[in-house]
Amino acid sequence: MRIDLRKGTPLKQKTPCLVLGAFEGKTLSPLLKELDRALDGALARAHRDGEFRGRPGESLLLHPGRALPAERVLLVGLGKERDAGLEQLRQAAGTAASILQKKRLTAFATDLAGPPLRGTDLAGRAQAVAEGIRLAAYRFDRFRTEEKKEGLPALRDATLLVSGPAEARAAAEGIALAEVICDGVLLARELVNEPGNVKSPEFLARRAREVAAETGLACTVLERAQLEELGMGALLGVAQGSVREPRLIVLEYRGAGDAKPVALVGKGVVFDAGGISLKPAEKMDEMKSDMAGGAAVLGTLSAAARLRLPVNLVGVIPAVENLPSGSAIRPGDILTSLSGKTIEVLNTDAEGRLILADAITYVRRHEPRTVIDLATLTGACVIALGHHATAVLGNDEKLVHQLLKAGTKCGERLWQLPLWSDYAEQIKSEFADVKNTGGRPAGAITAAAFLQKFAEGLTWAHLDIAGTAWEESGRYYLPKGGTGVGVRLLIEYLRLG
Ligand code: BES
Ligand code: MN
Ligand code: ZN
Repeated sequence: MRIDLRKGTPLKQKTPCLVLGAFEGKTLSPLLKELDRALDGALARAHRDGEFRGRPGESLLLHPGRALPAERVLLVGLGKERDAGLEQLRQAAGTAASILQKKRLTAFATDLAGPPLRGTDLAGRAQAVAEGIRLAAYRFDRFRTEEKKEGLPALRDATLLVSGPAEARAAAEGIALAEVICDGVLLARELVNEPGNVKSPEFLARRAREVAAETGLACTVLERAQLEELGMGALLGVAQGSVREPRLIVLEYRGAGDAKPVALVGKGVVFDAGGISLKPAEKMDEMKSDMAGGAAVLGTLSAAARLRLPVNLVGVIPAVENLPSGSAIRPGDILTSLSGKTIEVLNTDAEGRLILADAITYVRRHEPRTVIDLATLTGACVIALGHHATAVLGNDEKLVHQLLKAGTKCGERLWQLPLWSDYAEQIKSEFADVKNTGGRPAGAITAAAFLQKFAEGLTWAHLDIAGTAWEESGRYYLPKGGTGVGVRLLIEYLRLG
């Protein structure tokens, strides 16, 4: 997808499609009034009949004939002007791009970034629009060979219209930023969408090495013998049911000399069948996405390196497969973690917290100033928040608030759940230091309470992305499949400083 800039008036553009935003409300903007006049009142009629009112997600495709140089006009709703912000622009741009993509149009022009919006600047608006377009146009279609043979056209060129050279400079800055961030998001999506038969822990390690070589990150991969030597008993316990060997992927980015790093830890379960505590068949295919946290860590480090952010980062991805087999761990097994703490495994399907416990302990050797883990950790999180927010919990309110702020800013919303010490009661074990399940009540919180025991003394936050890492049907700029959630959030967090 190429996104370029052109100086010009929207209604004078010669393009396969002119995309314009419309606020919800009775009065049309001056530009839309002019369009309505040129089209003999088509907009007013659509509004009167309730066909298009400018609500979020709404669109209206018009064929202006000889009235305009554009072959088509696509109106997209921005919602009420007083509620509209960057996320509404991003969504509207995404809606437009996915509609045009489905219609097999190859190019369009839009003024979406142009009109001012309270609390935004042009660079930010251009960034949001470019993100919406790039993220919506993505498809995981490598395995659709018949479509390829037909050689169907794809959306290739988007033109953002600006009014002058100063505007072009600001918009170009936003577009450049969006390009790097979206590359990180799309890298994460691609890894999440990759099927389980392709995606082994070693596959993730190989991709990490490749990305590291391209972006100048340091990458170290620990294999079984080293993990045994270190004593990563929790991670190894999860891995022992699969013939695919585990890996611990460690990435480092240096953008701030000797400063203490921010550590990002991402759950990398390449497939989660549940182990001996086997999952039901329905939707088990989605468990190829159980490495979405790890994918977000890789996407974030690559984007941070390309943006040369002034920060030091260490990314840790424990990569394993959770399968049932004759060699798998059993309910009741007791594992000794890298920290020395012992864990009673009551449910082998609560494997994410086991590998994260060892990864969080491992990252201590980098003396991080902050540790943030991302994980598709609990079904309970999906029950609590659905697919519209990532849960955030942590032992440092300031860090949690910084993350909440970054989430609001970039459109990847977070919602904080409490981590009161009362919840830790639920994970006390009779036979070991801790057990890996806390029963049904507050499952997302007790999972975090488990991790908290391994984050003692660290400034730590946990992001449960179980509901946000996978899009089931497709909306706005999120096509069906992996969303790449976490990359935009973490880049925003790191940029806020
Ligand atoms: N990977 C799953 C959580 C999950 C569920 C992610 C649905 C995305 C969508 C995790 O490993 C898991 O199985 N968690 C269990 C924990 C339980 C056994 C305590 C769960 O949530 O059911
Ligand atoms: Mn599981
Ligand atoms: Zn899992």
